[in-house]
Amino acid sequence: MPTPILATRDLVRIHRRGDDEVRAVDGVTIDVDPGEFVAVMGRSGSGKTTLLDLLGCLLRPTSGELAIDGRSVIGASDDELAAIRRERIGFVFQEFNLIPTLNAVENVMLPLRYGPRRADGRAAATELLALVGLGHRQRHRPSELSGGEQQRVAIARALINRPAVVLADEPTGELDSSTGAELIDMLRRLNAERGVTVVVVTHDAGVAGAAGRIIRLSDGRVLADARRGERDFGRTLGGTTNGNGRWAEPGSVLARLGDLVARARGR
Ligand SMILES: Nc1ncnc2c1ncn2[C@@H]1O[C@H](COP(=O)(O)OP(=O)(O)OP(=O)(O)O)[C@@H](O)[C@H]1O
Ligand SMILES: [Mg+2]
Repeated sequence: MPTPILATRDLVRIHRRGDDEVRAVDGVTIDVDPGEFVAVMGRSGSGKTTLLDLLGCLLRPTSGELAIDGRSVIGASDDELAAIRRERIGFVFQEFNLIPTLNAVENVMLPLRYGPRRADGRAAATELLALVGLGHRQRHRPSELSGGEQQRVAIARALINRPAVVLADEPTGELDSSTGAELIDMLRRLNAERGVTVVVVTHDAGVAGAAGRIIRLSDGRVLADARRGERDFGRTLGGTTNGNGRWAEPGSVLARLGDLVARARGR
């Protein structure tokens, strides 16, 4: 068994607002293995972004365990967390978050400013831009690029430090559906050809359908977790639930109905 890149045990994050408590992530236990392409789905407010921010060490858990590449990050200092984020994790957000005054190559090189000097920085950035199909757009500024191109620059930037895992929060959210599909194809290629581990939050069944595994959250908990080829994959993708909004237990009539529907749809 490989060491999981991400491992959580009973991970909890409580957001406090005055006296109010929101258990945004409420006891999540998952392992993500090297080379996996995981989609995280769930209704708005189900805790997807909070979970991704925990996995990316942008937020500290309230309780539970989180290990990255087999090393617990729970007791880590702020500086240690910053180093883990810089060296092990690539982030892609819905808003591309590029620096408007920098061109594509400079944007890709940006994370290198915060780490040790790398003589091959510019060459690596140029190569990554070519890899995401922007070899001919190296000197364009964000305002001179389309939305899909900007997001591809953001993906190249996420890869510049050769992260163990890329975390993407609705990366296609601001793109039209065909541009979004192209972007996901590209992420899939990076995953297949370069072995980049990807965890992507999405509302889009088209995006999730490209994943090798789907984790569905509800109220901060894992409602379903299925790998492609497993019986529950189609149901997890479709979010088939019973009348109470609860997950239909495997083996129940509703669950079997969900499977039939999924199969009929060819999923
Ligand atoms: N900083 C915060 N303070 C208080 N509550 C928060 C905070 N961030 C998120 N929440 C609450 O935690 C829950 C989970 O939020 P989260 O952003 O993780 O959901 P999500 O699944 O990403 O939703 P969406 O699909 O709308 O992006 C929600 O009920 C939200 O209101
Ligand atoms: Mg969100």
